[in-house]
Amino acid sequence: MKSSFGQSVNISITGESHGAGLVAVLSGLTPGIKIDEEYIRRCLSQRAPMGKISTPRQEADEFEILSGVFEGFTTGTPITILIRNTNTKSKDYSEMASTARPGHADFTADVKYHGFQDYRGGGHFSGRITAVLVAAGAIARLALKNKGIEIGTHIAKCGTVSDRAFENAVDDIRTLNEKYFAVLSDESAEAMQAEILNAADEGDSIGGVLETAVLGLPAGLGEPWFDSMESVLAHFLFSIPGIKGVEFGGGFAVARMKGSQVNGSLRIEDGKITPVNDLSGGVNGGITNGDILKFRCAVRPTPTIFKEQNTVDMKNLADKTLSAKGRHDPAIVHRVRAVVDSATAITLCDMLAQRYGTDWAKEEF
Ligand SMILES: Cc1cc2nc3c(=O)[nH]c(=O)nc-3n(C[C@H](O)[C@H](O)[C@H](O)COP(=O)(O)O)c2cc1C
Repeated sequence: MKSSFGQSVNISITGESHGAGLVAVLSGLTPGIKIDEEYIRRCLSQRAPMGKISTPRQEADEFEILSGVFEGFTTGTPITILIRNTNTKSKDYSEMASTARPGHADFTADVKYHGFQDYRGGGHFSGRITAVLVAAGAIARLALKNKGIEIGTHIAKCGTVSDRAFENAVDDIRTLNEKYFAVLSDESAEAMQAEILNAADEGDSIGGVLETAVLGLPAGLGEPWFDSMESVLAHFLFSIPGIKGVEFGGGFAVARMKGSQVNGSLRIEDGKITPVNDLSGGVNGGITNGDILKFRCAVRPTPTIFKEQNTVDMKNLADKTLSAKGRHDPAIVHRVRAVVDSATAITLCDMLAQRYGTDWAKEEF
């Protein structure tokens, strides 16, 4: 089982939805990063459930930093973060010991762990685990911000409703990072939330697409072939529960376009070689080209729904029906956004450390 990720900057994650708590160990992060606890809390609040568009399971998400920070700064040694679970209702899941929720990991976990897995609330496969990832990612984001690298993600699509595209990425990213429901057009936000509520009323769920932009990355990051920027980012992004697609730049749409439309051009701007209108998403040959890094993630509709579905009793090998119980998100896309931001930050810190070494934060890019 591989519960850790990254070469030079590495994250390990442990925990279960209804266990005592969640732990992340973030190793290899550069020393001297000032810890802004308020900022970490803000990132956590962007993942937290809110109102009727999210699960009623509210958790305080109070985090404790157990190691790797001294007198308010990272020391360079592994940072351990603990978030305790305080609001669990395990009896809702007693049926799940043997009944697999279609689309969730109940069946596959049972096959892999031979029935020993903690099935309560989805156990290790719950979105709950991502809380501690967001806390660790917030620290990585603080490290990147010091170098002028900013990450922003919007809900490009939720159900059938689309947001407007990124226009001025600097302003758009700033706006998004202040918002809980990360949408650039307020009208779209209302329509998206209405679709989530409709799905909830029907006992169903909807999905969406997240689009991320990263500003300020230097050209030259990425370790081809196998640790190309796209491969490493996609590896982490696909590890996030509920992400079913990742595409960079023009993505799958470039297959229908002409080279002249996709390539854009290269120009000298402010004395620097600069790609213009390039649909590669800021990456050529697996290496960043200094343009805005842009990618999209497809987020599935929440697998647990209250509508009746066909499934099986795994112990007695019998067909049965299930109307799920427990507390669930009618959509997860708005919450996954904070997880994507954190996964991106940790990956980028790793790629920077691979190119420039542990002291990358001291380098002039
Ligand atoms: C923040 C977050 C919240 C989630 N909330 C739920 C939920 O309430 N109910 C549910 O069935 N799945 C939820 N999920 C998704 C499942 O964890 C995920 O679909 C499941 O582990 C199966 O993995 P897969 O969809 O990647 O195959 C959530 C995921 C995230 C990241």
